[in-house]
Amino acid sequence: MPESAAPVTPVTFPPAFLWGAATSAYQIEGAVREDGRTPSIWDTFSHTPGKTAGGDTGDIAVDHYHRYRDDVALMAELGLNAYRFSVSWPRVQPTGRGPAVQRGLDFYRRLVDELLGAGIKPAVTLYHWDLPQELEDAGGWPERDTAYRFAEYAQMVGEALGDRVEQWITLNEPWCSAFLGYASGVHAPGRTDPAAALRAAHHLNLAHGLGTVALRSVMPARNSVGLSLNTSVVRPLSQQPADLAAARKIDDLSGGIFHGPILHGAYPESLFEATAPVTDWSYVRDGDLAAIHQPLDALGLNYYTPTLVASATGELPGPRADGHGESDHSPWPASEDVAFLQTPGERTEMGWTVDPTGLHDLIMRYTREAPGLPLYITENGAAYDDKPEADGSVHDPERVAYLHGHLSAVRRAIADGADVRGYYLWSLMDNFEWAYGYGKRFGAVHVDYASQERTPKSSAHWYARAARTGTLPPVE
Ligand code: FCB
Repeated sequence: MPESAAPVTPVTFPPAFLWGAATSAYQIEGAVREDGRTPSIWDTFSHTPGKTAGGDTGDIAVDHYHRYRDDVALMAELGLNAYRFSVSWPRVQPTGRGPAVQRGLDFYRRLVDELLGAGIKPAVTLYHWDLPQELEDAGGWPERDTAYRFAEYAQMVGEALGDRVEQWITLNEPWCSAFLGYASGVHAPGRTDPAAALRAAHHLNLAHGLGTVALRSVMPARNSVGLSLNTSVVRPLSQQPADLAAARKIDDLSGGIFHGPILHGAYPESLFEATAPVTDWSYVRDGDLAAIHQPLDALGLNYYTPTLVASATGELPGPRADGHGESDHSPWPASEDVAFLQTPGERTEMGWTVDPTGLHDLIMRYTREAPGLPLYITENGAAYDDKPEADGSVHDPERVAYLHGHLSAVRRAIADGADVRGYYLWSLMDNFEWAYGYGKRFGAVHVDYASQERTPKSSAHWYARAARTGTLPPVE
Protein backbone atom coordinates (compact mmCIF):
# COMPACT_ATOMS: atom_id res chain seq x y z
CA MET A 1 0.00 0.00 0.00
CA PRO A 2 1.49 3.42 -0.84
CA GLU A 3 2.19 5.46 2.25
CA SER A 4 -0.47 8.05 1.43
CA ALA A 5 -3.21 5.41 1.33
CA ALA A 6 -2.34 3.96 4.73
CA PRO A 7 -4.97 4.86 7.33
CA VAL A 8 -3.66 6.79 10.33
CA THR A 9 -5.74 5.52 13.28
CA PRO A 10 -6.91 6.98 15.46
CA VAL A 11 -7.00 10.12 13.34
CA THR A 12 -5.30 12.46 15.80
CA PHE A 13 -3.89 15.89 14.94
CA PRO A 14 -0.91 17.79 16.33
CA PRO A 15 -1.80 19.68 19.56
CA ALA A 16 -1.34 23.16 18.02
CA PHE A 17 -3.61 22.37 15.05
CA LEU A 18 -6.20 25.09 14.34
CA TRP A 19 -9.79 23.91 14.15
CA GLY A 20 -11.54 26.75 12.41
CA ALA A 21 -14.49 27.78 10.32
CA ALA A 22 -14.59 30.35 7.51
CA THR A 23 -17.02 32.95 6.19
CA SER A 24 -16.85 36.08 4.06
CA ALA A 25 -18.28 39.56 4.52
CA TYR A 26 -20.80 39.80 1.69
CA GLN A 27 -22.06 36.27 2.33
CA ILE A 28 -22.97 36.86 5.99
CA GLU A 29 -22.95 40.50 7.13
CA GLY A 30 -26.00 42.16 5.57
CA ALA A 31 -26.33 45.80 6.75
CA VAL A 32 -25.23 46.88 3.29
CA ARG A 33 -26.25 50.48 3.72
CA GLU A 34 -25.18 51.02 7.33
CA ASP A 35 -22.41 53.13 8.84
CA GLY A 36 -21.20 54.60 5.59
CA ARG A 37 -20.80 51.41 3.54
CA THR A 38 -21.14 51.94 -0.23
CA PRO A 39 -22.07 49.28 -2.83
CA SER A 40 -19.60 46.64 -3.91
CA ILE A 41 -19.69 44.85 -7.25
CA TRP A 42 -21.69 42.10 -5.53
CA ASP A 43 -24.41 44.54 -4.47
CA THR A 44 -24.74 45.72 -8.06
CA PHE A 45 -24.55 42.23 -9.54
CA SER A 46 -27.03 40.61 -7.16
CA HIS A 47 -29.49 43.44 -7.77
CA THR A 48 -29.24 42.95 -11.54
CA PRO A 49 -32.17 40.80 -12.70
CA GLY A 50 -31.22 37.27 -13.70
CA LYS A 51 -27.77 37.20 -12.12
CA THR A 52 -28.51 35.23 -8.94
CA ALA A 53 -30.91 32.36 -8.25
CA GLY A 54 -34.27 33.76 -7.23
CA GLY A 55 -32.87 37.30 -7.37
CA ASP A 56 -31.27 36.68 -3.95
CA THR A 57 -28.97 39.42 -2.62
CA GLY A 58 -26.71 39.92 0.40
CA ASP A 59 -28.78 42.87 1.67
CA ILE A 60 -29.64 41.03 4.88
CA ALA A 61 -27.70 37.79 4.47
CA VAL A 62 -27.51 36.22 7.95
CA ASP A 63 -27.43 39.61 9.65
CA HIS A 64 -24.03 38.90 11.15
CA TYR A 65 -23.26 42.64 11.33
CA HIS A 66 -25.81 42.84 14.14
CA ARG A 67 -25.48 39.31 15.51
CA TYR A 68 -21.71 38.91 15.62
CA ARG A 69 -21.64 38.58 19.42
CA ASP A 70 -24.04 35.63 19.35
CA ASP A 71 -22.16 34.12 16.43
CA VAL A 72 -18.86 34.29 18.30
CA ALA A 73 -20.53 32.77 21.36
CA LEU A 74 -21.75 29.93 19.15
CA MET A 75 -18.24 29.36 17.80
CA ALA A 76 -16.95 29.19 21.36
CA GLU A 77 -19.66 26.69 22.28
CA LEU A 78 -18.55 24.58 19.33
CA GLY A 79 -14.98 24.56 20.61
CA LEU A 80 -13.48 26.32 17.58
CA ASN A 81 -10.07 27.85 18.19
CA ALA A 82 -9.84 29.77 14.91
CA TYR A 83 -12.13 31.81 12.66
CA ARG A 84 -11.45 33.13 9.18
CA PHE A 85 -13.58 36.09 8.07
CA SER A 86 -13.20 38.81 5.49
CA VAL A 87 -13.27 42.58 5.75
CA SER A 88 -15.69 44.38 3.45
CA TRP A 89 -13.62 46.90 1.51
CA PRO A 90 -16.54 49.35 0.88
CA ARG A 91 -17.35 49.27 4.59
CA VAL A 92 -13.93 50.51 5.69
CA GLN A 93 -13.02 52.58 2.63
CA PRO A 94 -16.24 53.56 0.88
CA THR A 95 -15.79 53.91 -2.90
CA GLY A 96 -12.28 52.44 -2.61
CA ARG A 97 -10.53 55.80 -2.26
CA GLY A 98 -9.83 58.28 0.46
CA PRO A 99 -9.63 57.94 4.22
CA ALA A 100 -10.80 54.95 6.25
CA VAL A 101 -14.20 55.15 7.89
CA GLN A 102 -13.76 54.55 11.62
CA ARG A 103 -17.29 53.13 12.09
CA GLY A 104 -16.48 50.46 9.54
CA LEU A 105 -13.14 49.59 11.14
CA ASP A 106 -14.78 49.64 14.59
CA PHE A 107 -17.06 46.78 13.60
CA TYR A 108 -14.04 44.61 12.84
CA ARG A 109 -12.24 45.78 16.01
CA ARG A 110 -15.24 44.71 18.08
CA LEU A 111 -15.49 41.40 16.25
CA VAL A 112 -11.79 40.66 16.77
CA ASP A 113 -11.95 41.61 20.45
CA GLU A 114 -14.95 39.33 20.91
CA LEU A 115 -13.06 36.48 19.23
CA LEU A 116 -9.90 36.99 21.26
CA GLY A 117 -11.99 37.15 24.42
CA ALA A 118 -13.46 33.77 23.54
CA GLY A 119 -10.03 32.25 22.87
CA ILE A 120 -10.61 32.11 19.10
CA LYS A 121 -7.75 33.08 16.80
CA PRO A 122 -8.88 35.47 14.05
CA ALA A 123 -7.63 35.14 10.47
CA VAL A 124 -8.47 38.14 8.28
CA THR A 125 -9.03 37.95 4.54
CA LEU A 126 -8.74 41.40 3.00
CA TYR A 127 -10.43 40.68 -0.31
CA HIS A 128 -13.17 38.10 -0.66
CA TRP A 129 -14.62 39.49 -3.92
CA ASP A 130 -16.46 42.63 -2.80
CA LEU A 131 -14.67 45.30 -4.85
CA PRO A 132 -16.07 48.80 -4.28
CA GLN A 133 -18.35 49.47 -7.26
CA GLU A 134 -16.62 52.78 -7.98
CA LEU A 135 -13.36 50.95 -8.60
CA GLU A 136 -15.12 48.67 -11.07
CA ASP A 137 -16.58 51.75 -12.74
CA ALA A 138 -12.99 52.97 -13.13
CA GLY A 139 -12.06 49.69 -14.86
CA GLY A 140 -11.91 47.11 -12.06
CA TRP A 141 -9.22 44.44 -11.80
CA PRO A 142 -8.20 44.62 -15.48
CA GLU A 143 -6.85 48.08 -14.60
CA ARG A 144 -3.49 48.42 -12.88
CA ASP A 145 -4.67 51.20 -10.58
CA THR A 146 -6.92 48.74 -8.71
CA ALA A 147 -3.78 47.02 -7.39
CA TYR A 148 -2.53 50.35 -5.98
CA ARG A 149 -5.94 51.01 -4.45
CA PHE A 150 -5.82 47.56 -2.82
CA ALA A 151 -2.41 48.22 -1.27
CA GLU A 152 -3.72 51.43 0.28
CA TYR A 153 -6.76 49.64 1.67
CA ALA A 154 -4.57 46.79 2.99
CA GLN A 155 -2.45 49.29 4.88
CA MET A 156 -5.51 50.89 6.49
CA VAL A 157 -6.81 47.57 7.75
CA GLY A 158 -3.32 46.49 8.82
CA GLU A 159 -2.94 49.66 10.87
CA ALA A 160 -6.31 49.13 12.54
CA LEU A 161 -6.10 45.39 13.30
CA GLY A 162 -2.43 44.45 13.01
CA ASP A 163 -1.90 44.68 16.76
CA ARG A 164 -4.50 41.98 17.46
CA VAL A 165 -4.77 39.80 14.35
CA GLU A 166 -1.77 37.61 13.55
CA GLN A 167 -2.99 35.78 10.49
CA TRP A 168 -3.54 37.72 7.25
CA ILE A 169 -4.76 36.60 3.86
CA THR A 170 -4.52 39.21 1.11
CA LEU A 171 -6.78 37.63 -1.51
CA ASN A 172 -9.29 34.83 -1.51
CA GLU A 173 -9.24 32.70 -4.65
CA PRO A 174 -7.99 35.23 -7.21
CA TRP A 175 -8.92 32.63 -9.87
CA CYS A 176 -12.60 33.25 -9.15
CA SER A 177 -12.17 37.03 -9.10
CA ALA A 178 -10.45 37.00 -12.49
CA PHE A 179 -12.12 34.21 -14.41
CA LEU A 180 -15.65 33.94 -12.98
CA GLY A 181 -15.83 37.72 -12.70
CA TYR A 182 -14.39 38.74 -16.07
CA ALA A 183 -14.46 35.66 -18.37
CA SER A 184 -17.54 33.50 -17.70
CA GLY A 185 -19.35 36.36 -15.96
CA VAL A 186 -21.18 34.13 -13.46
CA HIS A 187 -19.72 36.25 -10.65
CA ALA A 188 -19.60 40.01 -10.22
CA PRO A 189 -18.93 42.17 -12.15
CA GLY A 190 -20.28 39.75 -14.77
CA ARG A 191 -18.02 40.63 -17.69
CA THR A 192 -17.26 38.09 -20.42
CA ASP A 193 -13.93 39.16 -21.88
CA PRO A 194 -11.12 36.56 -21.66
CA ALA A 195 -8.38 39.12 -22.33
CA ALA A 196 -9.68 41.31 -19.50
CA ALA A 197 -9.73 38.25 -17.22
CA LEU A 198 -6.02 37.61 -17.84
CA ARG A 199 -5.21 41.26 -17.18
CA ALA A 200 -7.27 40.96 -13.99
CA ALA A 201 -5.23 37.93 -12.92
CA HIS A 202 -1.99 39.88 -13.29
CA HIS A 203 -3.30 42.88 -11.39
CA LEU A 204 -4.62 40.63 -8.63
CA ASN A 205 -1.12 39.18 -8.33
CA LEU A 206 0.28 42.70 -8.19
CA ALA A 207 -2.30 43.63 -5.56
CA HIS A 208 -1.19 40.66 -3.48
CA GLY A 209 2.47 41.68 -3.71
CA LEU A 210 1.93 45.39 -3.03
CA GLY A 211 -0.63 44.59 -0.33
CA THR A 212 1.82 42.25 1.40
CA VAL A 213 4.48 44.97 1.53
CA ALA A 214 1.92 47.54 2.73
CA LEU A 215 0.71 45.23 5.50
CA ARG A 216 4.23 44.46 6.67
CA SER A 217 5.08 48.16 6.77
CA VAL A 218 2.52 48.73 9.51
CA MET A 219 2.27 45.43 11.38
CA PRO A 220 4.40 43.62 13.95
CA ALA A 221 6.88 41.28 12.28
CA ARG A 222 5.40 38.26 14.10
CA ASN A 223 2.23 38.44 11.96
CA SER A 224 1.77 35.98 9.13
CA VAL A 225 0.86 37.12 5.61
CA GLY A 226 -0.26 34.86 2.78
CA LEU A 227 -3.18 34.28 0.42
CA SER A 228 -5.73 31.58 -0.36
CA LEU A 229 -5.56 29.85 -3.73
CA ASN A 230 -8.04 27.42 -5.24
CA THR A 231 -5.72 25.76 -7.72
CA SER A 232 -7.67 23.03 -9.53
CA VAL A 233 -6.62 19.48 -8.77
CA VAL A 234 -6.49 18.56 -12.43
CA ARG A 235 -6.71 14.94 -13.52
CA PRO A 236 -6.17 13.96 -17.14
CA LEU A 237 -8.59 11.36 -18.54
CA SER A 238 -5.63 9.33 -19.86
CA GLN A 239 -1.87 9.51 -20.15
CA GLN A 240 -2.15 10.28 -23.87
CA PRO A 241 -0.18 13.42 -24.81
CA ALA A 242 -3.31 15.35 -25.85
CA ASP A 243 -5.03 14.72 -22.50
CA LEU A 244 -1.84 15.56 -20.61
CA ALA A 245 -1.57 18.82 -22.57
CA ALA A 246 -5.18 19.67 -21.64
CA ALA A 247 -4.41 19.02 -17.98
CA ARG A 248 -1.28 21.13 -18.19
CA LYS A 249 -3.19 24.08 -19.62
CA ILE A 250 -5.82 24.03 -16.89
CA ASP A 251 -3.16 23.62 -14.22
CA ASP A 252 -1.37 26.71 -15.59
CA LEU A 253 -4.60 28.71 -15.82
CA SER A 254 -5.73 27.87 -12.28
CA GLY A 255 -2.43 27.43 -10.41
CA GLY A 256 0.74 28.50 -12.21
CA ILE A 257 -0.79 31.84 -13.20
CA PHE A 258 -0.85 32.72 -9.49
CA HIS A 259 1.76 30.61 -7.71
CA GLY A 260 4.23 31.05 -10.58
CA PRO A 261 4.86 34.74 -9.92
CA ILE A 262 3.96 34.62 -6.22
CA LEU A 263 6.16 31.67 -5.19
CA HIS A 264 8.75 31.62 -7.96
CA GLY A 265 8.83 35.13 -9.44
CA ALA A 266 7.81 34.07 -12.97
CA TYR A 267 4.80 33.09 -15.04
CA PRO A 268 5.13 29.62 -16.60
CA GLU A 269 6.33 29.76 -20.24
CA SER A 270 3.60 27.28 -21.10
CA LEU A 271 1.00 29.78 -19.84
CA PHE A 272 2.29 32.44 -22.25
CA GLU A 273 2.11 29.93 -25.11
CA ALA A 274 -1.38 28.75 -24.19
CA THR A 275 -2.83 32.24 -23.87
CA ALA A 276 -1.08 33.77 -26.91
CA PRO A 277 -4.33 33.79 -28.97
CA VAL A 278 -5.93 36.02 -26.32
CA THR A 279 -3.26 38.27 -24.83
CA ASP A 280 0.34 39.37 -25.28
CA TRP A 281 0.86 40.10 -21.56
CA SER A 282 2.24 43.56 -22.43
CA TYR A 283 0.66 44.92 -19.23
CA VAL A 284 3.31 43.06 -17.18
CA ARG A 285 5.74 45.90 -16.53
CA ASP A 286 9.38 45.80 -15.52
CA GLY A 287 9.59 45.21 -11.80
CA ASP A 288 6.11 43.66 -11.49
CA LEU A 289 7.37 40.13 -10.99
CA ALA A 290 9.72 41.23 -8.23
CA ALA A 291 6.88 43.19 -6.62
CA ILE A 292 4.63 40.12 -6.70
CA HIS A 293 7.34 37.71 -5.50
CA GLN A 294 7.24 38.59 -1.79
CA PRO A 295 8.21 35.97 0.77
CA LEU A 296 5.08 34.35 2.23
CA ASP A 297 4.62 33.29 5.84
CA ALA A 298 1.90 30.79 4.98
CA LEU A 299 -0.22 29.60 2.07
CA GLY A 300 -3.96 28.92 2.23
CA LEU A 301 -5.44 26.17 0.09
CA ASN A 302 -9.15 25.95 -0.71
CA TYR A 303 -10.43 22.62 -1.98
CA TYR A 304 -13.84 21.18 -2.83
CA THR A 305 -13.55 18.70 -5.72
CA PRO A 306 -11.08 17.58 -8.40
CA THR A 307 -11.29 18.53 -12.10
CA LEU A 308 -11.25 15.83 -14.79
CA VAL A 309 -10.13 17.01 -18.22
CA ALA A 310 -9.44 15.57 -21.66
CA SER A 311 -8.52 16.84 -25.08
CA ALA A 312 -11.75 18.03 -26.67
CA THR A 313 -10.76 16.50 -29.98
CA GLY A 314 -10.88 12.84 -28.94
CA GLU A 315 -13.75 10.41 -28.29
CA LEU A 316 -15.22 11.48 -24.98
CA PRO A 317 -17.18 9.69 -22.32
CA GLY A 318 -20.11 11.90 -21.24
CA PRO A 319 -21.31 13.91 -19.47
CA ARG A 320 -19.42 17.18 -19.57
CA ALA A 321 -19.15 19.40 -16.54
CA ASP A 322 -17.07 22.20 -15.22
CA GLY A 323 -18.88 22.97 -12.01
CA HIS A 324 -18.56 26.73 -12.15
CA GLY A 325 -22.12 27.76 -12.91
CA GLU A 326 -24.19 28.22 -16.04
CA SER A 327 -22.77 30.51 -18.69
CA ASP A 328 -22.35 30.48 -22.46
CA HIS A 329 -18.88 31.85 -21.83
CA SER A 330 -16.07 29.68 -20.52
CA PRO A 331 -14.07 30.81 -17.50
CA TRP A 332 -10.99 29.26 -19.20
CA PRO A 333 -9.40 31.57 -21.81
CA ALA A 334 -8.08 29.94 -24.98
CA SER A 335 -9.23 26.50 -23.81
CA GLU A 336 -11.72 25.46 -26.48
CA ASP A 337 -9.51 22.39 -26.97
CA VAL A 338 -10.11 21.21 -23.38
CA ALA A 339 -13.15 19.15 -22.35
CA PHE A 340 -14.30 19.10 -18.74
CA LEU A 341 -15.79 15.78 -17.65
CA GLN A 342 -17.86 14.69 -14.69
CA THR A 343 -15.67 12.84 -12.18
CA PRO A 344 -17.35 9.58 -11.20
CA GLY A 345 -18.64 9.17 -7.64
CA GLU A 346 -21.02 10.58 -5.13
CA ARG A 347 -21.84 14.28 -5.48
CA THR A 348 -22.86 17.14 -3.23
CA GLU A 349 -25.79 19.48 -3.79
CA MET A 350 -23.45 21.64 -5.93
CA GLY A 351 -22.91 18.65 -8.22
CA TRP A 352 -19.31 18.49 -7.05
CA THR A 353 -17.85 14.98 -6.72
CA VAL A 354 -16.73 14.01 -3.22
CA ASP A 355 -13.07 13.00 -3.48
CA PRO A 356 -10.80 13.51 -0.46
CA THR A 357 -7.79 12.12 -2.35
CA GLY A 358 -7.81 15.43 -4.26
CA LEU A 359 -7.16 17.32 -1.04
CA HIS A 360 -4.23 15.04 -0.19
CA ASP A 361 -2.83 15.54 -3.70
CA LEU A 362 -3.20 19.32 -3.47
CA ILE A 363 -1.41 19.51 -0.13
CA MET A 364 1.44 17.30 -1.33
CA ARG A 365 1.71 19.33 -4.53
CA TYR A 366 2.27 22.56 -2.58
CA THR A 367 4.56 20.77 -0.14
CA ARG A 368 6.77 20.15 -3.18
CA GLU A 369 6.08 23.54 -4.81
CA ALA A 370 6.97 25.52 -1.67
CA PRO A 371 9.10 23.39 0.64
CA GLY A 372 8.99 24.55 4.25
CA LEU A 373 6.05 26.93 3.79
CA PRO A 374 3.33 26.38 6.43
CA LEU A 375 0.00 25.44 4.82
CA TYR A 376 -3.55 25.99 5.99
CA ILE A 377 -6.70 24.54 4.49
CA THR A 378 -8.56 27.84 4.41
CA GLU A 379 -11.74 26.35 2.93
CA ASN A 380 -13.23 22.90 2.55
CA GLY A 381 -16.81 21.75 2.92
CA ALA A 382 -19.97 20.70 1.15
CA ALA A 383 -23.52 21.86 0.39
CA TYR A 384 -26.40 19.52 1.17
CA ASP A 385 -30.13 20.03 1.21
CA ASP A 386 -30.37 20.13 5.01
CA LYS A 387 -33.85 20.40 6.48
CA PRO A 388 -34.86 20.69 10.13
CA GLU A 389 -36.77 17.74 11.67
CA ALA A 390 -40.08 18.29 13.44
CA ASP A 391 -38.19 18.85 16.72
CA GLY A 392 -35.99 21.50 15.08
CA SER A 393 -32.80 19.43 14.97
CA VAL A 394 -30.85 19.19 11.71
CA HIS A 395 -29.13 15.96 10.69
CA ASP A 396 -26.49 16.05 7.99
CA PRO A 397 -24.69 12.69 7.97
CA GLU A 398 -23.38 13.36 4.43
CA ARG A 399 -21.50 16.43 5.68
CA VAL A 400 -20.09 14.46 8.62
CA ALA A 401 -18.81 11.85 6.15
CA TYR A 402 -17.41 14.59 3.90
CA LEU A 403 -15.56 16.24 6.77
CA HIS A 404 -14.29 12.94 8.13
CA GLY A 405 -12.96 11.97 4.70
CA HIS A 406 -11.27 15.30 4.04
CA LEU A 407 -9.81 15.76 7.51
CA SER A 408 -8.43 12.21 7.27
CA ALA A 409 -6.81 13.22 3.98
CA VAL A 410 -5.23 16.23 5.73
CA ARG A 411 -3.93 13.94 8.46
CA ARG A 412 -2.46 11.56 5.87
CA ALA A 413 -0.69 14.49 4.21
CA ILE A 414 0.79 15.50 7.57
CA ALA A 415 1.99 11.90 8.03
CA ASP A 416 3.52 12.15 4.55
CA GLY A 417 5.55 15.20 5.59
CA ALA A 418 3.27 18.18 4.86
CA ASP A 419 3.27 21.10 7.29
CA VAL A 420 -0.49 21.72 7.59
CA ARG A 421 -1.19 23.94 10.56
CA GLY A 422 -4.96 24.25 10.50
CA TYR A 423 -8.30 23.64 8.81
CA TYR A 424 -11.15 26.10 8.26
CA LEU A 425 -14.44 24.43 7.50
CA TRP A 426 -16.53 26.23 4.85
CA SER A 427 -18.73 27.41 6.32
CA LEU A 428 -19.55 28.26 9.88
CA MET A 429 -23.20 28.78 8.97
CA ASP A 430 -25.49 28.70 5.94
CA ASN A 431 -25.13 31.89 3.91
CA PHE A 432 -25.43 33.67 0.57
CA GLU A 433 -23.77 31.31 -1.89
CA TRP A 434 -23.04 33.91 -4.58
CA ALA A 435 -24.92 33.28 -7.86
CA TYR A 436 -26.69 30.29 -6.25
CA GLY A 437 -28.25 32.57 -3.64
CA TYR A 438 -29.55 31.01 -0.42
CA GLY A 439 -30.48 27.71 -2.10
CA LYS A 440 -27.14 26.04 -1.34
CA ARG A 441 -26.41 25.41 2.31
CA PHE A 442 -22.72 24.96 3.23
CA GLY A 443 -23.06 25.65 6.95
CA ALA A 444 -22.22 23.41 9.89
CA VAL A 445 -24.84 25.62 11.55
CA HIS A 446 -28.30 25.83 9.99
CA VAL A 447 -29.83 29.27 9.52
CA ASP A 448 -33.58 29.77 9.27
CA TYR A 449 -33.55 32.77 6.94
CA ALA A 450 -36.98 34.01 8.04
CA SER A 451 -36.17 34.14 11.77
CA GLN A 452 -32.34 34.20 11.55
CA GLU A 453 -32.36 31.40 14.10
CA ARG A 454 -29.08 29.43 14.21
CA THR A 455 -29.15 25.66 14.88
CA PRO A 456 -25.95 23.62 14.92
CA LYS A 457 -26.36 20.62 12.60
CA SER A 458 -25.07 17.20 13.64
CA SER A 459 -21.89 17.98 11.66
CA ALA A 460 -21.27 20.99 13.94
CA HIS A 461 -21.49 18.72 16.99
CA TRP A 462 -19.21 16.19 15.32
CA TYR A 463 -16.68 18.90 14.40
CA ALA A 464 -16.86 20.33 17.92
CA ARG A 465 -15.83 16.91 19.32
CA ALA A 466 -12.93 16.80 16.86
CA ALA A 467 -11.86 20.33 17.82
CA ARG A 468 -12.05 19.58 21.55
CA THR A 469 -10.20 16.27 21.46
CA GLY A 470 -7.89 16.72 18.47
CA THR A 471 -9.10 13.33 17.24
CA LEU A 472 -11.76 12.66 14.61
CA PRO A 473 -14.82 10.99 16.14
CA PRO A 474 -16.19 8.02 14.20
CA VAL A 475 -18.79 8.60 11.51
CA GLU A 476 -22.12 7.33 12.85
C1 FCB B 1 -15.40 29.25 -2.58
C2 FCB B 1 -15.60 30.64 -2.02
C3 FCB B 1 -16.54 30.71 -0.85
C4 FCB B 1 -17.71 29.77 -1.02
C5 FCB B 1 -17.26 28.39 -1.38
C6 FCB B 1 -18.38 27.37 -1.53
O1 FCB B 1 -15.02 29.31 -3.91
O2 FCB B 1 -14.37 31.19 -1.65
O3 FCB B 1 -16.93 32.04 -0.66
O4 FCB B 1 -18.60 30.30 -1.94
O5 FCB B 1 -16.53 28.43 -2.58
